[in-house]
Amino acid sequence: MIGSQDGPPALEVQNLSCRFGALVAVHDVSLAVPPGGRFGIIGPNGAGKTTFFNLLSGELRPSGGRIRLFGEDVTRLSPPRRVAKGIGRTFQITRIFPDLTVRENLTLALLGLSRSKLQPLRRWRADRVRQQRAEELAGSFGLAHRLEDPARVLSHGELRELEVLLALATEPRVLLLDEPAAGLSPAERQDIRRLLQDLPTSLTLVMIEHDMEVLREVVDRVAVLHYGELVVEGPTAEVQQHPAVREIYLGSAEVGR
Ligand SMILES: Nc1ncnc2c1ncn2[C@@H]1O[C@H](COP(=O)(O)OP(=O)(O)OP(=O)(O)O)[C@@H](O)[C@H]1O
Ligand SMILES: [Mg+2]
Repeated sequence: MIGSQDGPPALEVQNLSCRFGALVAVHDVSLAVPPGGRFGIIGPNGAGKTTFFNLLSGELRPSGGRIRLFGEDVTRLSPPRRVAKGIGRTFQITRIFPDLTVRENLTLALLGLSRSKLQPLRRWRADRVRQQRAEELAGSFGLAHRLEDPARVLSHGELRELEVLLALATEPRVLLLDEPAAGLSPAERQDIRRLLQDLPTSLTLVMIEHDMEVLREVVDRVAVLHYGELVVEGPTAEVQQHPAVREIYLGSAEVGR
């Protein structure tokens, strides 16, 4: 589970900030995640977690600071250019098309990968490769029997799995997941936990999650955001016991659950 220490970090953030008018949603955050690292981000509602992800994926431009992906500065790149560089993400609010089938949703995500206008024969081959890849992805998460079903008939847990699949379809090197277990039943939570544990070890994972049980099993380090600031960062078990974290979550059942 521990990432390699050689070479540049998979993700390196230096003094990153984001202002919305007078509100500083992300304030001077610095952290690094090694290749293959499993990293969690926690913090109360409104702490700036999703804003932080929006900065990483390029949906928002920072007011200050730098973002590097495997040593390369991506701070000024557009979201599609960052996807091409290997940043993949899910959104807190789902981006699945409910009336399209699982296969169609996956194919659309895979189409996002094709960069050039292809000749008809090559296009036909590429389509076939995409179909195979869609089936492979669905099969790897136990969704093969759902390929021809419209997304709207999937269970909440299956939808969450499809969201992760759509992000994986862009072949990320760094995968950002925004609360993948939110709103799931205990059984569904277990499924998604297993799925996350089975992700390729070469993939670097950064995950916003409130469920400490999921975090304990999936990530090895956690950062805590509070009013946009990184207050603590360290091994999951230590962070959970940290007095500042206990204070932030006082009266909340989220830590220690
Ligand atoms: N586009 C925006 N314009 C103005 N304010 C925003 C915008 N996006 C987020 N904010 C504000 O920034 C702060 C951080 O929001 P953010 O969504 O990043 O929090 P979060 O940690 O993801 O919370 P949650 O746990 O509820 O998902 C909040 O006060 C929010 O209202
Ligand atoms: Mg959020």
